[in-house]
Amino acid sequence: MAELPGLESPHADAPLGPTGRPQRDVPEPRPLRSHGPARIIALCNQKGGVGKTTTTINLGASLAGYGRRVLAIDFDPQGALSAGLGVDTHEATTIYELLLGSSKDVAGAIVSTATPGLDVIPANIDLSAAEVHLVNEVAREQILARVLRHVSDDYDVILIDCQPSLGLLTVNALTSAHGVLIPLECEYFALRGVALLIETIEKVRERLNPAITLDGILPTMYDARTLHAREVMQRVVEAFGDRVLETAISRTVKFPDASVASLPITSFAPEHPAAEAYRRLARELVSRGAVA
Ligand SMILES: Nc1ncnc2c1ncn2[C@@H]1O[C@H](COP(=O)(O)OP(=O)(O)OP(=O)(O)O)[C@@H](O)[C@H]1O
Ligand SMILES: [Mg+2]
Repeated sequence: MAELPGLESPHADAPLGPTGRPQRDVPEPRPLRSHGPARIIALCNQKGGVGKTTTTINLGASLAGYGRRVLAIDFDPQGALSAGLGVDTHEATTIYELLLGSSKDVAGAIVSTATPGLDVIPANIDLSAAEVHLVNEVAREQILARVLRHVSDDYDVILIDCQPSLGLLTVNALTSAHGVLIPLECEYFALRGVALLIETIEKVRERLNPAITLDGILPTMYDARTLHAREVMQRVVEAFGDRVLETAISRTVKFPDASVASLPITSFAPEHPAAEAYRRLARELVSRGAVA
């Protein structure tokens, strides 16, 4: 028999999850009766290749699968998010034009993807010039926030896929966001940069965006078969405690395979454990209140 919420002991009899803590079942989120305004989440880590883009795509697709309206923002001049979602960025209006104000039509820049409920504002290499162009703007840290205000009411969640740097674009993402999600590769050197990242988030909180919260640290590329990964996981949990999400994403070649097909893994291989891991992440974030 299901226990009443709040009465169960703190999941003591749940099996241990990948983070070494009891992992409970997270219920499917309730359908939403109405949509918006969006909670904005920046996916941030200045270390490259830790799973920011992969998480934006697959968390976005999973939340969309639960009936949430999701807008993903490609905020990296590499355009990996746009490519991963199958968007051709040559013809498209990109986030760069919206930031510079050369296009004011924010809604017109939104592209729908093959996943119903998941839309994207694309980026391409032009965005690499943005930091230089915006540096002399008034309120240069708040430009993305002003852009997103135009479309925020149409979505339940906006996910910003940041580039691997702590420069002005990332500060714009942090200034516009309600929360930050930090994908962290389960690899020894990956831990080093997180303190600096958290310091940056603190500065943004003090100076620009007092309401910003850390929604969680997501362990990625976890390989439970290696002692190294298990040790790193243990250190991450020791260092960051409950800020580490219960969900972890395993290392699997299905992700590069899905990127080649320009599909979320939840469509490319929906039964794969990694697809279920991203669906679990979506459920965990809803149950933590990070997403409606
Ligand atoms: N859990 C995983 N297992 C195996 N490969 C993965 C996993 N997650 C991501 N990858 C692969 O690792 C590479 C880097 O991932 P991704 O692009 O998501 O990282 P990123 O943090 O966005 O990188 P960048 O900092 O360059 O933007 C990609 O080729 C991706 O397919
Ligand atoms: Mg990326």
